[in-house]
Amino acid sequence: MYEFCQFSQYFLQIGGTPLYILSTFDSNFLLQSLNFKLPMEILKRVFQNAQKYQKRIVLPEGTEPRTLRATEIILNQKLARLILLGNPEEIVQAAKELGVNIEGATIADPKTDPRRGQYADLMVEIRKTKGLTKEAALKLLNDPLYFAPLMIKAGDADGELAGAINATGDVLRPALQYVKTMPGVSVVSGAFLMFVNDPHFGHEGILVFADCAVMPDPNEQQLAEIAVTTARTAKAIVGMDPRVAMLSFSTMGSAQHPLVDKVANATRIAREMDPELKIDGEMQLDAALIPEVGRLKAPNSEVAGRANILVFPGLEAANIGYKLVQRLGKAEAVGPVLQGMAAPINDLSRGCSVSDIVNMVAITANQAAALFE
Ligand code: ACO
Repeated sequence: MYEFCQFSQYFLQIGGTPLYILSTFDSNFLLQSLNFKLPMEILKRVFQNAQKYQKRIVLPEGTEPRTLRATEIILNQKLARLILLGNPEEIVQAAKELGVNIEGATIADPKTDPRRGQYADLMVEIRKTKGLTKEAALKLLNDPLYFAPLMIKAGDADGELAGAINATGDVLRPALQYVKTMPGVSVVSGAFLMFVNDPHFGHEGILVFADCAVMPDPNEQQLAEIAVTTARTAKAIVGMDPRVAMLSFSTMGSAQHPLVDKVANATRIAREMDPELKIDGEMQLDAALIPEVGRLKAPNSEVAGRANILVFPGLEAANIGYKLVQRLGKAEAVGPVLQGMAAPINDLSRGCSVSDIVNMVAITANQAAALFE
């Protein structure tokens, strides 16, 4: 299914900055995965912004077939400037075998790149308390998953996307070690934009779930931070007015357990962090989403029954929860969008499609624009 969609003016808001954009936009790749109206419009905005800012996104899995197919599309659509990592001959050969045109992408070889010495010095400086030697740093730099964050740290790239053939932990660890968190944030977490098939839920059918990807067992302070950063992500990417439900198996003290206390305390801490934020908890999922249940179980809440952000108590519940909604509820899941990192570095699922990679590059570019502009 293909459609060419043109429009002349669109109102955008990224990172709190409203923008008017003039653009022509080809929506083919969204329509392949999203066939209802609203998500497409949101992603159109994300695509338009990516086209405007032309961020440099590094893709460490340079010979991976879906990555190469996505590269052709991204370059055609002018969504970002791309840097593919790997052996140049192998990358060119792989593209040739697939019949894709990657002309316009920059190729960098982590094993021979002239910036290796500079990056190794930077690594030693960042990890000096950990006793990293230059020799060890140079060895680590052979791995594209280390080279990519160093490119960002050195100002040679604006964002990274990987994970089509690497596990989440392997993508995240170098990023956490060398790019680290943004000022005032101590926790990196992962949000999913969930496009459900019912506009009555969330923000006209869009909900944001967190943390579905990173922090296995957050404490109450970390959970509070996840709630606040997820609200910011939702505002920046979706443009929604966040209403955050802090999920539990209890609603407003209906059960007593240390796990319930953790969520209630996290809610209180999040309110202290951001007094303007509409956030409530602890509450059960039905109290968060269903107006009648919300009125019954949490009658004084401005969030219950109309939450658009669901913060799960831990990674187990969140990861299982988003996959249940995706697989059984047939929702479109876009993410994980990593939040809290000093620069945008995103992780793909190994089951990702070409259009997932295109969409995530556009989202990464939007995050970079929000951070750096
Ligand atoms: N936020 C900020 N910093 C962090 C975080 C975090 N969430 N987690 C670890 N760090 C820091 C550590 O403090 C440490 O810093 P330092 O080296 O400067 O002291 C550094 O990152 C490395 O941490 P380690 O503890 O050495 O690394 P670890 O092996 O714990 O890896 C990781 C961290 C990769 C995030 C790990 O917690 C993990 O694997 N999480 C689960 C990922 C996952 O499998 N998700 C599910 C699949 S994703 C999906 O389905 C979409």
